[in-house]
Amino acid sequence: MTVMPVATTDQSTDRLRRHVLKPMPVASPGGTASAATATLNGPGQPLRTSTPRTILMCPPTFFDVVYEINPWMDLSVPVDTSLAMQQWNTLRERYLADGHTVYVIHPEPGLPDMVYAANGGLVIDGLALAPRFTFPERQAEGAAFGSWFDGASRAGILGDTATYVGQAEELNEGEGDTLLIGDLLLCGTGFRTSVAAHQELDRRMGLTERGIKVITLELVDPRYYHVDTALTVLDDGSISGERLIAYLPEAFSADSQKVLEELFPNAIIADPEDAAVLGLNAVSDGRRVYLNGAATGMMDKLRARGFEPVGMDFTEILKGGGSVKCCTLFLRPSAQRN
Ligand code: ARG
Repeated sequence: MTVMPVATTDQSTDRLRRHVLKPMPVASPGGTASAATATLNGPGQPLRTSTPRTILMCPPTFFDVVYEINPWMDLSVPVDTSLAMQQWNTLRERYLADGHTVYVIHPEPGLPDMVYAANGGLVIDGLALAPRFTFPERQAEGAAFGSWFDGASRAGILGDTATYVGQAEELNEGEGDTLLIGDLLLCGTGFRTSVAAHQELDRRMGLTERGIKVITLELVDPRYYHVDTALTVLDDGSISGERLIAYLPEAFSADSQKVLEELFPNAIIADPEDAAVLGLNAVSDGRRVYLNGAATGMMDKLRARGFEPVGMDFTEILKGGGSVKCCTLFLRPSAQRN
C-alpha cells in the first residue's frame, strides 16, 4: 500500500497550487480546526483540553535503513516500507479524525529519513527556519523543507504574517531538538543541534522579542540523540494552568536534570523501558497523547494524569530511530502558538 495521500480541494490547497514555485510540495490539508474539546477528569485533576494542531508530515515512500547514523539503525534488519506506509497513514488519519490539520510534503527519492518531518525545521508565529543536518546523508533535506516553507508562507498556510526565514547556518535539526512549551523553547544539544544553533534561533526568529526563552539542555545518551526522543511536551499550561512534560532524567546531563526539575516539578518521570521503545517521542494535543503503543508504562502514567493515550503501531519507522513525534512537525501559523 503505497498510496500517496491525495490533496483535497481546499481553498488553501488551491492557493498553494497557484503560488508555489517548483519543486512543488503537495499540501494536503484535512480535518477542520474545530473548537478545543475538553474532558473533566477526576477530582483534583487539571482539565485536559485538546486544541487542534496544524501539522506537516512526509510519507515514508522512500523510507529504508540504508545508513547508520544513530544506534537504532541497523543495516542488517530489513524494513517493510509498505507496512511503514500503512502505519504512517494510520497516524495521519487519526490526526485528521481528531480534528487536526495535516499538510503533506512530497517525499524525495534518496532521502529515506525525510519521513522524520520534525527535523524539517522550526515554525513559530508563522516564521519558519529550515534545518542544517549534521550528517551528509540528510543534508539535502534542508533545501527540500526550505522550499516547502517558502511556498507555504507565500500561500498563506503559515498565516498572514508568515515568513520563510531561510536555512540555519549552524547545525540545527529542527523540532527534533527544539520543543516549544508556552514561552519556553527547550533546545537539545550534545549529538546533533549545536548551542550556537540555539543562539541563532533566538536571533533569527526574534525569540526574545516574542517573549520566548531558550533553554539549552544537554543530552548524554547516544540512544536519545534528539531532545524529542527523551522528553515529551504534554501541556503548555495555557488552559490547565500547569506546564507539564514527561522525560527520562538520565538522558540529560546532571546540570540539565536540575534545570528540568526546577522548571517542571510535577513532570512524569519515564521508565527506561518506555524510553527504549521511543515512548517519549510523542505528540500531545493537550488531552490526547499519540505515542508508540508498545510504551505501555507511559500509557498508564498518562492515563493517571488525565490524558488519553493513543497507542500507535510503529514498528517500521522505529527502525530508523524515530517514532510518532519525529514524523510530526508543528506548523504554528501566525496567531497560533501551540
Ligand atoms: N534516522 C534519523 C536520524 O538519525 C531519525 C530522526 C528522528 N527524528 C527525530 N525528530 N528524533 O537523523
